[in-house]
This record gives sequence, C-alpha cells and structure tokens, in this order.
Amino acid sequence: MFNTKKLKSAKEYFLSEEQFADTVNAGLSLKKKSLPSWLLFDKVGSEIFKKITELPGYLPAASEFEIIRSHKNDIAKLITGNSFNLIELGSGDGCKTQILIKHLLNEGLDFHYFPIDISSGAVTNLVRSLEDNYYNTSLKVTGLIGDYFDGLDTVKNNGKNLVLFLGVSLNNMDLGMAKVFLERLSQTIGPEGYLLIGFDLMKDPKLLYSAYNDPLFEKFNLHLLDRINQELDGGFKKEYFLQQGQFNPITGAVESYLYSMHDQTIHVKKLNKKFNFNAWETIQTEKSFKYTLEEIENLAVESGFEIVEHLFDSRKYFVDSIWKVKH
Ligand SMILES: C[S@@+](CC[C@H](N)C(=O)[O-])C[C@H]1O[C@@H](n2cnc3c(N)ncnc32)[C@H](O)[C@@H]1O
Repeated sequence: MFNTKKLKSAKEYFLSEEQFADTVNAGLSLKKKSLPSWLLFDKVGSEIFKKITELPGYLPAASEFEIIRSHKNDIAKLITGNSFNLIELGSGDGCKTQILIKHLLNEGLDFHYFPIDISSGAVTNLVRSLEDNYYNTSLKVTGLIGDYFDGLDTVKNNGKNLVLFLGVSLNNMDLGMAKVFLERLSQTIGPEGYLLIGFDLMKDPKLLYSAYNDPLFEKFNLHLLDRINQELDGGFKKEYFLQQGQFNPITGAVESYLYSMHDQTIHVKKLNKKFNFNAWETIQTEKSFKYTLEEIENLAVESGFEIVEHLFDSRKYFVDSIWKVKH
C-alpha cells in the first residue's frame, strides 16, 4: 500500500510573496544584516543542498549514512509487535531511511512508514521511489505533505511510534527553539514511542571550516541573492559577494556570511528600497549549532526525554541519539 496525503493547502503553508518581502526587508534593514537560512530552501536551493550532502567533506551526511549502515540492527531492535509506525520528520529524499527500510523488511518486521515533509515534491518522489523498489513486499507507506506536527497528529494514535528526525535540522535551531520543539515532540510521540534524533557534534574547528567552505556552499548561499532578484526585482550582482563560514566559540555555531566585496548600493524594486553595503560588510545567512554530548544529555532531560542509547559513526563526528519519553 503506497499513498500520499496533503494535510493543508499549499497556500496555508507556503510563504506568500508579501511574507518573503517582509522577511528580506527586515533582515537587510538590521544594523548587522541577517537573513534566516530557511529562505535558501526553494526548489533550486534544495537541489544545491542535496548535492552538498553528497560531498565527502560535508561530514554530517557522510557520518550519518555510516551510522545508519552500521547500526541498523540496533534500530531494528526498537521495532516490536505489529502496528508499528516509522515516522520521519522532514524526510527530504529519504536516502538514509531507505537503507533502514530495506533492512527492516529483510528482518521480516511489520511496520508502516510515514514520511512527513512540507515539500510536496520531496514526499511525492520518495513515495514513488519506494513503490518502484518495494511494490511486491509487505511495506506500507503513507506520505504526508505538511508540517511536522500536523503530520504527527494524523498518525500518532495508530500504534507504537519510532520517530526519526535525521540530518542537521535540530542543529539549525537555537537552543531556545530546540527546547520548545522537543518539549512539544515529547508530548506527541506517545509513552511507548522512541525518537531517533541526529546531532552534528562539536569537532576540530578546522574540519568545520573546510566542511562549510566548499564552493558548493558558496553557490548555495549566493542563491539567496538570486532568489531576492527574482522574487523582489532586486539588483544584487552575485560576483560582488563571497561566502565564508566559520565556527564561533562564543555562540557555539558555525555561522555563514555573505561578504560585500565593495562599497555598493542595491536597489530592491519591489521593496521600493535601497540597501547600502560598505566593503566587507556581511549578511549572516546560516547558523549551525554544534553540540557536546553533555549538552545533548541536558537537552533531552530538560525537554522531557531520557536517553536510551547513542549511536556514533567511527570518527564520533555525529550522533543519532535514541530517546524515550520520561515517565
Ligand atoms: C535539511 S533537509 C533534511 C532532509 C533529510 N532528513 C536528511 O537528513 O537528509 C530538511 C527537510 O525538512 C523539511 N522541513 C523543513 N521544515 C519543515 C516543517 N516545519 N515541517 C515538515 N518538513 C519540514 C524540508 O522541506 C527538508 O526536506
């Protein structure tokens, strides 16, 4: 059984042109210019990001692939009885999860996979690819197009849940946002449920530097200027900006910036506004917080969970941590 459901209309989810314009206007009007990283994820931005995750130097993806491959048995142990739901928040192309699904089917386990993603293209493609690969197996798939919590509300009471939150999605939230998100999750996944959640770990800042300064990262960040030009009739010239990311030990995050290479004034016609840049002035575009194990353990407890097990890659660059709701 393979199907897809849309939880709300696209209009209710996606940014209107006005919201995009307001966010860009607010960010570029700050004394220290800053634009949120989710503005990067339109269709083209998501395609560039997928290529980034395939770079051997982009350690989070390579490390998490290794974890899923080498610990698939530890994850399979969590699946007991029938009517088990494997729920994935922000599944994207589900590449890593497909390794797990293949293993669970080989083990003869009975489960229903619910990929949840706000991107309709991502869910549709993933369900189609699973249907092609597993049409003659016991696999049941319901793709849910919508927000994490709308998706969870649709599924949560139908049995025991293993919720996957893979990749660096939590790393991109600041600590306050992460706590609010996890507290809500602890109240949603059910007393019998498990959460398998990815954290990129603090490591040698030189490795972080090289991971976040690949030319593809620059292309990804500069894409934001293209998007502003296209959607708001902006006058950015990408060749007059460059990107650099670096770890900031005060905030505990890799921070990416676009640097203006000259004094310049950019007219954004649909905002009816001009933005001045001094040479080497920055726009902050991304923050990826890096965690120590102690910080992860505190976060779990403070948000209503207890830790069952940490699954590491061989270099301990990343952890997929298994949590249970604390009773
Ligand atoms: C960086 S990608 C990670 C994809 C995949 N989990 C991985 O590890 O490669 C984040 C995904 O989360 C989705 N997403 C972001 N915010 C969301 C939300 N509020 N509800 C559902 N999906 C969301 C995006 O569309 C994107 O596919």
